[in-house]
Amino acid sequence: MAQFKEISPNATATQKLANWFDNRFPTAGVEYRKHMSEYYAPKNFNFWYFFGSLAMLVLVIQIVTGIFLTMHYKPDAASAFGSVEYIMRDVPWGWLIRYMHSTGASAFFIVVYLHMFKAMIYGSYRKPRELVWIFGCTIFLMLMAEAFFGYLLPWGQMSYWGAQVIVNLFSAIPFVGPDLALMIRGDYVVSDATLNRFFSFHVIAIPLVLIGLVVAHLFSLHDVGSNNPDGVDIKGPSAPKDAAGHPLDGVPFHPYYSVHDMVGVCVFLMVFSAIIFFAPEMGGYFLEYNNFIPADALKTPLHIAPVWYFTPFYSMLRATTDVMVDVFVVIVALAAIAAVWKGRLGLVGKIAAVVLAAVAIVLLKNLDAKFWGVVIMGGAVIILFFLPWLDRSPVRSIRYRPRWHSTLYGIFVVFFMVLGYLGIEPPSPLGTLLAQIMTVYYFGFFLLMPWWSRLGAFKTVPDRIVFAH
Ligand code: HEM
Repeated sequence: MAQFKEISPNATATQKLANWFDNRFPTAGVEYRKHMSEYYAPKNFNFWYFFGSLAMLVLVIQIVTGIFLTMHYKPDAASAFGSVEYIMRDVPWGWLIRYMHSTGASAFFIVVYLHMFKAMIYGSYRKPRELVWIFGCTIFLMLMAEAFFGYLLPWGQMSYWGAQVIVNLFSAIPFVGPDLALMIRGDYVVSDATLNRFFSFHVIAIPLVLIGLVVAHLFSLHDVGSNNPDGVDIKGPSAPKDAAGHPLDGVPFHPYYSVHDMVGVCVFLMVFSAIIFFAPEMGGYFLEYNNFIPADALKTPLHIAPVWYFTPFYSMLRATTDVMVDVFVVIVALAAIAAVWKGRLGLVGKIAAVVLAAVAIVLLKNLDAKFWGVVIMGGAVIILFFLPWLDRSPVRSIRYRPRWHSTLYGIFVVFFMVLGYLGIEPPSPLGTLLAQIMTVYYFGFFLLMPWWSRLGAFKTVPDRIVFAH
């Protein structure tokens, strides 16, 4: 048995209780110190650093409100829609719990998109934080799955037809597609069987995975230390430290950032409450109007659009027409010519580049554009995983990069938002053309990053954090 720590008989009752607890569960204290009171974070965290803790808050809100919703919700095609109306009208405070959960879903994506943007502009995904980023990207993927499964549960027209459209996409995959779609649905159309399995994924499977991933995300971050807006390393061998070995440019997370984050929490809760109490449908963007009509397998809505947080990727799917596939063929051919002509490849490498390009062109021309749309939509998320290795800039933070790099990031954000808008609107010739241009920019931004991120005049990164109150 481990040695018990003695405490003075004159200690206060609270100190004695803490000592009693610590002697029986020392791990709690060790972990508290490692992640809170002795976790040194850079002293220059700014506005963008609110969103990590806010994402955790929203996760808790979703889990707690979800538990209460599950007490009254019925995962049955005959009663699901009615049970949600019952929650809204008859369950005491049921309307509040439901609106917190539906607004929470949109808030989650807003917070996570801003959190990802922070990591992009400050290069937080760069060595040694690659795994923090990869866990983050997996969280994002899981979050999308969680939202998709959850959206079927109210069993409204949009729930039903949205699920129908998305599951049908899987049938575009060559050979296995139709069987895969059948397996996901558990039936030939979206039905009671689909609702049951989506329910079990939504309430237990994905939340468990999400919690595990968030723990891995934070533990891996705390092992390597947080980045900061300057991208300067505060814990490395050459970073200045005090006599106890603590970084001079860092402050303990608790109480400094626990208090700081409370400011973000208060502002967030004000905005969150305002939406819940005054605009829970948010003009049809957070809760689509068509979803107040019960699912009807015989009546397809005129215009089916996913919820706003999926629409940038949905736009890319719709933009992948036959003409777009021809554009991809030209791009692949040009890339192969550039690799042979200018690339620093040996003879074998050049032959491999030509063979790969030829195979890609044959596949592009012979498989359905719908399939390539699915590849583009999935690829737009998967490509994020590779960001740590695509960015070759000599500095982490955007602050020390050439100004035109900021312009490229700015265009990226604007295009992403316009893609989101276009995905909500019914398709039009101009909309499709714009979405095609923006999709090419999106992929060009990432795929050409190994080249452009090294170009331009970089500013000198300071040795220590630059910080003014
Ligand atoms: C449930 C969702 C998530 C939660 C609860 C969460 C939580 C956190 C927290 C608390 C931090 C530390 C504070 C901060 O830097 O803001 C953090 C840092 C970070 N997160 Fe997340 N995160 C989530 C999703 C994501 C996603 C989707 C990505 C990227 C794809 C991501 C990438 C990062 C990176 C790179 C850092 C380090 C930032 C730095 O040190 O500058 N996270 N996360």
